Amino acid sequence: MGIFDKVLKIVKDSTGPKEKSAVAIDFGSSSVKVVQLRKEKGRAILETYGELTCGPYAELSVGQATSLPAEKMLELLRDLFREANVTAKVGAMAIPLRNSLLVSVEMPEMEESKLAEMVPIEARKYVPLPISEVILDWRLMPKSSLDEREPALESADSRNRKKSYGNKVEILIASIQKDIVRLYQDIAQKLGLVSDVFEIETFSSIRSVMPNDLSATVILDIGAGTSKIAIVDYGLVRLSHTIVKGSQDVTIAIAKSLSVPFAKAEEIKRKFGLLGDVDNGELLKSVSPTVEYIFAEAGKVMLQYQKEHKRAVDKIILIGGGAMMKGVGDVAREVIGLPVVMGAPFDKVEAPVFLSNVLKETGPEFAVAIGLALRKLEDL
Ligand SMILES: Nc1ncnc2c1ncn2[C@@H]1O[C@H](COP(=O)(O)OP(=O)(O)OP(=O)(O)O)[C@@H](O)[C@H]1O
Ligand SMILES: [Mg+2]
Repeated sequence: MGIFDKVLKIVKDSTGPKEKSAVAIDFGSSSVKVVQLRKEKGRAILETYGELTCGPYAELSVGQATSLPAEKMLELLRDLFREANVTAKVGAMAIPLRNSLLVSVEMPEMEESKLAEMVPIEARKYVPLPISEVILDWRLMPKSSLDEREPALESADSRNRKKSYGNKVEILIASIQKDIVRLYQDIAQKLGLVSDVFEIETFSSIRSVMPNDLSATVILDIGAGTSKIAIVDYGLVRLSHTIVKGSQDVTIAIAKSLSVPFAKAEEIKRKFGLLGDVDNGELLKSVSPTVEYIFAEAGKVMLQYQKEHKRAVDKIILIGGGAMMKGVGDVAREVIGLPVVMGAPFDKVEAPVFLSNVLKETGPEFAVAIGLALRKLEDL
């Protein structure tokens, strides 16, 4: 038994076999979310959920992105656990994409054992830290998903594609900073929580909002400081990209245009979104460019994918707090020209019927936390 097996065994024993509830934590840059689920006869039951904005813990406004120091994060989580009445003793933590790397690279075809040697060397080009400072994982992508999964559909076109592919393979490289895992482990310990699942947020949100189909889909997470786009095809992440604008930029634009403080602009944004209001004709003008920029960037990434893979993307799923802005779906549809679906992660769990409207409205924000909690339930 290797050292890691031992550590894992200790963790497993200490969680005990009877735990049936798990909590997932999503460390958003503007608000931290938690979701607690219980496993019952193979079903996932929503026990509680909640969020707290980071701003007030850093003398900033609600809606502003920040990076809280460890002790403030702990304070926030203690408050959040108390307010949401989190009781689970085991949990999982989402690693923000900003502390990770998710990149798809082409490499010459070779034996898997050789790939295992070569991928860390290739990864050095993309990882801005010494490789010893990151946890590295990788996955060999099906050469052409169409060829692999549906051989009966092989056409002249896909045969040509195989040829043009040459003897290259596509690898998805994922890495997480070890520092962030250490930090989160420390926080978990102080919360009295055994957390042994650390997952890049992108994978969590895919689990909660992707329908069970094989089509190519864009998942766009409009957060506070940034927006994150992932292209999922045949159920696998094929591409990930960060857009350097988020919903916080919409608030900044409103604040500037109406000459109001950030906090007031945030209120106006949440109330009117992109729909403006009769007294505020200026609102739409100030907000639209930021939102259009985000969707135009997402559209470019999508086109690049379609071109490279000769696969049509058929829809875009919006998640993140920015997706809750009124009217945002219409702008997305116009700019990208694809059907737009609002992420509904709570649909994957059982919850009281009287909550259904609230859960539908707030759903996009909880995509990461729900997906991660579902992952942790698999262990229980
Ligand atoms: N009801 C609402 N209407 C409009 N915007 C909203 C609403 N609720 C939250 N937002 C905006 O959503 C943004 C926060 O989204 P989210 O919680 O997904 O970000 P985050 O997870 O903290 O950020 P990141 O994922 O980038 O680290 C904020 O800019 C906030 O103003
Ligand atoms: Mg987020």
